[in-house]
Amino acid sequence: MSNNERPAYERAKLVLEINHLTKKFAVDGGKFLTACNDINLRAYEGRTLGIIGESGCGKSTLVRTLLRIHPATSGEAIFEGHDLMQSKGEQLRQDRKNIQMVFQDPTAAFNPKMLVKDILTEPLKNFGLIKNSEVDAKAAELLEMVELPAEFKDRYPHSMSGGQRQRLGIARALALEPKIIVCDEATSALDVSVQEKICELLCRIQKEK
Ligand SMILES: Nc1ncnc2c1ncn2[C@@H]1O[C@H](COP(=O)(O)OP(=O)(O)O)[C@@H](O)[C@H]1O
Ligand SMILES: [Mg+2]
Repeated sequence: MSNNERPAYERAKLVLEINHLTKKFAVDGGKFLTACNDINLRAYEGRTLGIIGESGCGKSTLVRTLLRIHPATSGEAIFEGHDLMQSKGEQLRQDRKNIQMVFQDPTAAFNPKMLVKDILTEPLKNFGLIKNSEVDAKAAELLEMVELPAEFKDRYPHSMSGGQRQRLGIARALALEPKIIVCDEATSALDVSVQEKICELLCRIQKEK
């Protein structure tokens, strides 16, 4: 097939190619539980890939494996010409910058003693991308991107609603300008009306970025 005959999503740039990814967990009695079995999928630039399946079918395990929260049992995940499953040292650090995660319950991911501005800019500080004098301005910029008032930078996350905290989680994921954002049930803890707003926000940011 020539490139022009391919469906539009295939003409978009391939950003992630997962081949034969398998994850088994050791369980009691020397047995193994196969949480992900021979997963093959592709993700394209500017597109959204949704993974649907019943509870316990291995969705979170797949993304946790991609993010190297735990090692794969076998298979590969090709991103920017290398296998994410083999990355070490500086490469692994760069992968962690390029692939960001938005969790179901952002509260658990935030240090309750940190101000919103410090939560938002911590990833940038870790990568030496921001000076202390720039924290307030950067936090305000990130808050505006997710349609929260800039004044929220001097608040604590517990003083915000669930929907606002999820916007904060998205803003923090965006801080490092990642190539891929993984959302693991990022809206399932929210009210239906808020879910829709968060999805609209993610779509808007995807188009802009
Ligand atoms: N760390 C772990 N150790 C052992 N089993 C696990 C671990 N994490 C997940 N599992 C099991 O893997 C399967 C898939 O779980 P999960 O990926 O959380 O599913 P989903 O996100 O689709 O609901 C489940 O049977 C779960 O109990
Ligand atoms: Mg899950």
